[in-house]
Amino acid sequence: MTTETTMGLMERASTTIGRSHLTAAALLAAVAVTAPAVFAQTPAAAQAAKLVDLPSFADARKIADTTCASCHGAQGEGMPAAGFPRLAGTGGAYLQSQLDAFASGYRKNSVMQPIAQALSQQQRIELAQFYASLPATVSVDKTAFLEPDPSNLGEWLALRGRWTDDIPPCGHCHGPTGLGAGEHFPPLAGQPASYLRDQLQGWKDGLRPPGPMALMVLIASRLNAADIAAVANFYATLPAKPQPAPRQGGPQ
Ligand code: HEC
Ligand code: HEC
Repeated sequence: MTTETTMGLMERASTTIGRSHLTAAALLAAVAVTAPAVFAQTPAAAQAAKLVDLPSFADARKIADTTCASCHGAQGEGMPAAGFPRLAGTGGAYLQSQLDAFASGYRKNSVMQPIAQALSQQQRIELAQFYASLPATVSVDKTAFLEPDPSNLGEWLALRGRWTDDIPPCGHCHGPTGLGAGEHFPPLAGQPASYLRDQLQGWKDGLRPPGPMALMVLIASRLNAADIAAVANFYATLPAKPQPAPRQGGPQ
């Protein structure tokens, strides 16, 4: 697919989204058909791809240890009690786009904006790749997902969605157990509930950039306050047991 047709698709998608005519099924179909091409064309993805073969993350490791670890943990595992998200094992292109968005002020957060602004573009790329390379620090018991409980609103939205309101199951894009998928769909499992809530509200309030095809703007707009609280609590309290992940970074 050429860049031109990709742009055309994205424009059409956002026009439709603007008119709120995009159904959940169309949303998923659009992602399945166009997402790989759309993602492959983004400059961030192209840049990240070029850097996958970096021989070492020495600089990134040093910055991670001295600047990021105090909030995101020594292994990028996050700090649920404080609401700081996990970074380990999240897609590199996604992490880089978020650091870039903080740096440009497009994604608003008083803590992360100055930190991202102080980094060079190269450092943001390397830090994103570094955290993506660390093993995810949560694992989820898949058997918990076989029979969603209809009385558990969060679990039901995550696994079944609510098609009457055109809300697709979160797991379709974030992985069946919420552990994320590929470079662009971040994990939700084990992230702090307050963090997940703030992100969904952030799209409603225009504090977060729309992201690929504005998918989350549309989905968040269809979730009410009770939905947001329930789905955030569900993912935050998944049977996520910490794995003894050996530290791969750190100064030697
Ligand atoms: C003082 C605490 C603090 C420090 C230090 C810190 N962060 Fe953060 N970070 C946060 C908070 C809080 C958020 C959530 C912001 C929000 O709600 O939008 C966050 C979010 C992020 C995100 C977005 C995660 C996602 O899933 O979208 C990335 C990427 C990130 N930080 C990278 C870094 C890197 C790299 C460093 C070191 C250079 C760093 N942070 C240092 C507190 C911190
Ligand atoms: C059609 C695909 C799709 C579906 C379905 C979907 N998401 Fe997302 N979600 C995304 C994408 C893509 C991103 C990354 C956005 C970006 O790059 O800014 C994302 C990001 C997020 C984030 C931010 C994570 C972080 O680390 O900051 C949250 C929270 C989230 N989604 C919650 C949900 C919930 C809850 C549902 C179900 C009600 C859901 N999503 C359904 C595609 C989807």
